[in-house]
Amino acid sequence: MLQTGNLYADLAGYYDRFCADVDYAGQCAFTQRAFACFSSSGGRDYLDLACGTGQHLLHMSQYGFVVSGLDNSRDMLAQAAQRVPQAELLLCDLAAFDQVEAFDLISCFLYSIHYSHPTTALEETLRRAWRALKPGGVFIFNAVDAAGIAASRTIQTRLTEGDSELSFRSGWHYSGNGDVLELVLGITRTSAGGRDSWHDRHTMTAIRFTQLQRLLRTTGFETTFLEHDYETMRPWDGTGFNVIVMACKPSAGKHDYCFESSPQATSVKKAEQLFKLSNTT
Ligand SMILES: C[S@@+](CC[C@H](N)C(=O)[O-])C[C@H]1O[C@@H](n2cnc3c(N)ncnc32)[C@H](O)[C@@H]1O
Repeated sequence: MLQTGNLYADLAGYYDRFCADVDYAGQCAFTQRAFACFSSSGGRDYLDLACGTGQHLLHMSQYGFVVSGLDNSRDMLAQAAQRVPQAELLLCDLAAFDQVEAFDLISCFLYSIHYSHPTTALEETLRRAWRALKPGGVFIFNAVDAAGIAASRTIQTRLTEGDSELSFRSGWHYSGNGDVLELVLGITRTSAGGRDSWHDRHTMTAIRFTQLQRLLRTTGFETTFLEHDYETMRPWDGTGFNVIVMACKPSAGKHDYCFESSPQATSVKKAEQLFKLSNTT
């Protein structure tokens, strides 16, 4: 049995297979539509925070963006370099990049913003994202409200590789108080030759949406929370615990945001009012 404290290093070679159900193409199609709607900076320079193996970088480069990725795992970045050779890749912590007015679009997907821990580090990540955006640029990320995190939840995925069976477990543990959210990850590979296991534990940041909105506003962002639905862009109705955050760095000119409608969309007007409320609380 092999144990390690750096699972993303060991996981890098398997990561894409465990994420086979993630709709990266759909997320990026949404992102470029949302970017067109919310941005006013005029360019297409793009940075993906916690870029992992570069799936978003690949799709966004196909939409014409000049792509850069940041991650603190050398092994994940090695996968990204193979997938998107044209990408500029930065081995860096989420709370440590120091570009200034370099990007029109910054993203951070799969709830990876919560890897900035503790809350003061998350604040620093927001400040750095704001500084790295050009005026009129947009920071898009998804987030979960601490109130919606069950005390303990484990997801298990299995796949076969040759004569081996791989099992991937990820579990969130949250006490219900404070900002410590434990993510426990593990892989087990079972074959005729025996069994190997990798285990890792990350401390992530649990945060309430009200606090997140406050931090974003204090940082200088104009913020819109959207429903966590990559098919239809519409304002958050204020009830769900998962959102897509559009955080815009104001530019001198006024910009009118647009929304899409869907059969299940509730009253957009009502939701827009909620959005305005959420921006002023
Ligand atoms: C769940 S994966 C998401 C990867 C990618 N965004 C995706 O959607 O597939 C989380 C990524 O965040 C990176 N990561 C975790 N903590 C980080 C930190 N403090 N700074 C930079 N990257 C970090 C990990 O190395 C990993 O690649």
